Amino acid sequence: MASRSSCAVLGLQAFILLLYTVGRNMAEQEVENLSGLSSNPAKNIFAIRENGTTCLMAEFAAKIIVPYEVPSINEVDWDLEEAIIQLPRDTEIKGKCWNNESELHLSWLDKAYTLKLSFLKVTEFEDSTKSHGKNWKLNKIQFSYNVSERTNFKNGARPGKHTASKQHLSLMVTPIGMSYECDSPERVSLTSTDHQKIVTLLLSDVHIQPFDINSDFVYSEDYRCQTDQRKQLEESLPVILGITLGVAIVIILAVYHIHHKMTANQVQLPRDRSLYKHMG
Ligand SMILES: *[C@@H]1O[C@H](CO)[C@@H](O)[C@H](O)[C@H]1NC(C)=O
Ligand SMILES: *[C@@H]1O[C@H](CO)[C@@H](O)[C@H](O)[C@H]1NC(C)=O
Repeated sequence: MASRSSCAVLGLQAFILLLYTVGRNMAEQEVENLSGLSSNPAKNIFAIRENGTTCLMAEFAAKIIVPYEVPSINEVDWDLEEAIIQLPRDTEIKGKCWNNESELHLSWLDKAYTLKLSFLKVTEFEDSTKSHGKNWKLNKIQFSYNVSERTNFKNGARPGKHTASKQHLSLMVTPIGMSYECDSPERVSLTSTDHQKIVTLLLSDVHIQPFDINSDFVYSEDYRCQTDQRKQLEESLPVILGITLGVAIVIILAVYHIHHKMTANQVQLPRDRSLYKHMG
């Protein structure tokens, strides 16, 4: 009896282990392609879902400017060229969500290009720009490219696979529980393994939330980037000035009118008296 029950316990344990393993595999993420929702053909919109709910949501347009070398006419030197690589809509997307870290892996043209963005929660008072509270930020960017790829690089270009990256960044610093939004273009310089060349990543029309999404497919409250905030202020400033000026004019007119009436009354009094005298 004892051996039978321990056998059953063992079987149950094995079953639980199996369930756990299957469960872990089932917890794998799915990616939802929502790019069709945008009228901007350069914009990617997607949601990474895990355990049946959204854990990372992102939308942006991206362009990468890559300097590379082609043989010069004298065939001895190299001339510098610039490839402008647009992130396409048929990008293959993968993501990972942990408690304090999230990652986005984008690849296109059969992995000739890969772009990796890493997000981190900052629990210490690391950022001097924010005096209180906890934030998340974009802290690492890595872009791999192959100069032998012919869509973006010219024939005869000095071949090679390279990686341009930057670590310890403090970009998109946003209070935890909020999403980052920036319509204005943002530019990040990456250093390439190709002779330390500077590769430039241009992001625009950005809306990202890599942590703490409360409801499926819905961004939490927006946190606007500084450039957008400044732009909004600049746009609303003429309106505020106009209203202030209008109110000032009305007040001045009112004061003038009242003053005019009062002085007119005062002047009339003696005249009336003299009139009375004459009559008397
Ligand atoms: C999904 O579930 C797995 C296993 O239960 C867990 O380890 C993981 O942290 C969960 N992921 C998210 C994003 O909640
Ligand atoms: C995502 O959707 C857009 C628009 O419908 C489409 O053009 C694109 O190819 C899709 N991306 C993938 C990876 O299927």
